This record gives sequence, C-alpha cells and structure tokens, in this order.
Amino acid sequence: MQLLWPGKFDAAGVRRRPEPVPAARCRVVRVIGKGDGNRLVHGDFRAVLGTVAEESVDFVYVDPPFRTERDHYLKQSSRKHNGATPQPAYSDRWTDADYLNFLDDLVALARPALRATGSIAMHVDHRASAHVRCLLDEHFGPDRFINELIWKYGLGNATASRHFLRKHDCILVYGKTARHYFKKQRGDLTAAQQRKYCHEDERGRYMMSYGKRYDLKGGKPLESVLDIPALAATDAQRCGYPTQKPLRLLEVLIESLSPPAGVVMDPCCGSGTTAVAAQRLGRGWIACDPSETAIELATQRLEAEKGRAFVVERAG
Ligand SMILES: C[S@@+](CC[C@H](N)C(=O)[O-])C[C@H]1O[C@@H](n2cnc3c(N)ncnc32)[C@H](O)[C@@H]1O
Repeated sequence: MQLLWPGKFDAAGVRRRPEPVPAARCRVVRVIGKGDGNRLVHGDFRAVLGTVAEESVDFVYVDPPFRTERDHYLKQSSRKHNGATPQPAYSDRWTDADYLNFLDDLVALARPALRATGSIAMHVDHRASAHVRCLLDEHFGPDRFINELIWKYGLGNATASRHFLRKHDCILVYGKTARHYFKKQRGDLTAAQQRKYCHEDERGRYMMSYGKRYDLKGGKPLESVLDIPALAATDAQRCGYPTQKPLRLLEVLIESLSPPAGVVMDPCCGSGTTAVAAQRLGRGWIACDPSETAIELATQRLEAEKGRAFVVERAG
C-alpha cells in the first residue's frame, strides 16, 4: 500500500528524491556562549539537513505547517517593534503536490540523521495525518511504528456547527530500527492513588494489603492521549509566534524518546520550543526555519536560557 501524488514519479517512473544542499552552504553568523555544537539555522530544511552528520541525532520532532491555507502573522502583542503592521511569520498555502513533496522531503532527509536507536515524531492534524502515516510507513517501514499520540489541547477551535469540535492534533512516532530508545514517563498521582497509598515514611508512599507493603512507583504511566493545554493568550511562555507549542508537550516527547545528553533535531523549529525544551533537559539540539521572525524569536528565547551555548547560522 502506498500514497500516490502528482510528481511522486517522473515520466520514466523514477521515484522523486530530495536533493540536500551541501554542507559548505551554512555559515555561522553568531556564536552565543561557547557554541557547544547546538545549532540554530536560518534556512530551509533542505539546505540544512544535508549538513547534519549521518546517525548523529537521537530524536527528530517535526511540527510542519499544517496546510491551513492561511498566512500566519505574529500575535498582536508581539508587534510592538512594527507598530500596527502585522509581522509575517510564515505562509501556509500549498498545492497538493507541493505539500506532499515537502513532507516527503522532510521524512526522507531526516531519516539518515537518526541513530539506530533514534526516532521521529511528526506532529500534524486531521488535514495530513493519514498522508503522513503512509509516508512514514514507506520511508521507515510499517513495523517501525511506535505510537499515534493524540495531543488533546483543550483551548481554541471553539466553533463548529456541522461537526464535533476539533480539539486534538496527531503525533505519529516511528523508530529508525526496532531498537529505538524509550523511557517510560509517569504522570501526576491521581486522587485514587493518593487515597490508596495512604501511608508514607522515609522510603516514600505505600499501601498495606493483608500485612504486605506495596510501594508507590509514581503516577500512572503516560498514555497515548496527552492532555496538555495549549498556551493561553496570557501564558508567560507565549512569545507571539502563531503556532507556538507548549514546552510541556516537548518535554514529554524529549524525555521519553531521547536519552539523557542525547541530541534532538527540529527541522521546522518556529519559535524554538523544541530547542528550549532540549536545552532545559540537558540534550544537545539542532533547529532550523526559513522564517526570519521565527529565528529572531528562537534566538531571544534560547539566549534567555541557563547554560545557553549555540551558534546561529544562515543557510544558502
Ligand atoms: C507549525 S510551525 C512550528 C512551530 C514551532 N513548533 C513552535 O513551537 O514555535 C511550522 C514552521 O515550519 C516552518 N517552515 C516552513 N517551510 C519550511 C522549510 N522549507 N524548512 C523549514 N521550516 C519550514 C515555518 O516557518 C514555521 O515556523
């Protein structure tokens, strides 16, 4: 089974392949701290992924444009330096072929960068989830499927008269090989757990049953539905980027899918949420985006982080 779209094969029946731009095309424009291998690159992922060493990355998170058929601008409060003129973030208008070629190139170019224990998470919504599932099956193999995560974001999308309110995105996770890294995460204690494990001593919470002690291992293991609120308009994390994701979402993904001190890559980084989360969790990171606004905001956010050390590069 495979997905077909105009342009996937040429007239001779040859499957299209992306052409990464060679390494010499990225140049450093700023060094912050001691550099340390972390890279924020202003450029198209096609010009950047070819500069990432093969098998050097533990986890790739991709949050591409969702094909909203809109132009996205910075949120009102962040337009201060531009007065009333909306500052463009990125355009999200595509033909079928352009959009599928874009996603196909992303998956094809990201895969070689992953270590054998690495994995990729593609974050999309109802518009592209079926297509991305087919693309990931084709590039990684259906056996490498790890999870279809549902990010239940709660806020926003509050009007619908002819369908159920759309309140989730879909994050498809695939491993490079069957040996993908995974660390089980536990959520907060539920009220029922707190009632049940009602004793506590220096070893922690526990319950007694028929004279036997049972120690509490923590909250319930995280499930494939991630109930994490989207950023409210007044949230302190908000930097104004229109499609900024909450740090908590990235922290869960990074902690679960990359080892401590591993390397995380985000080829459509927007305001740099993945890099900020990776920095806080002690992972190395590589992030890129062709939007000047995105790189400006990501630089500001990363500069404000403790222990910051990275280079800003320009591709092409
Ligand atoms: C949904 S947003 C990412 C938001 C980000 N996760 C955050 O928290 O701010 C998608 C991003 O893809 C970027 N993008 C569009 N075309 C691209 C390309 N050719 N290469 C890399 N990134 C691209 C857009 O500029 C936009 O910032």
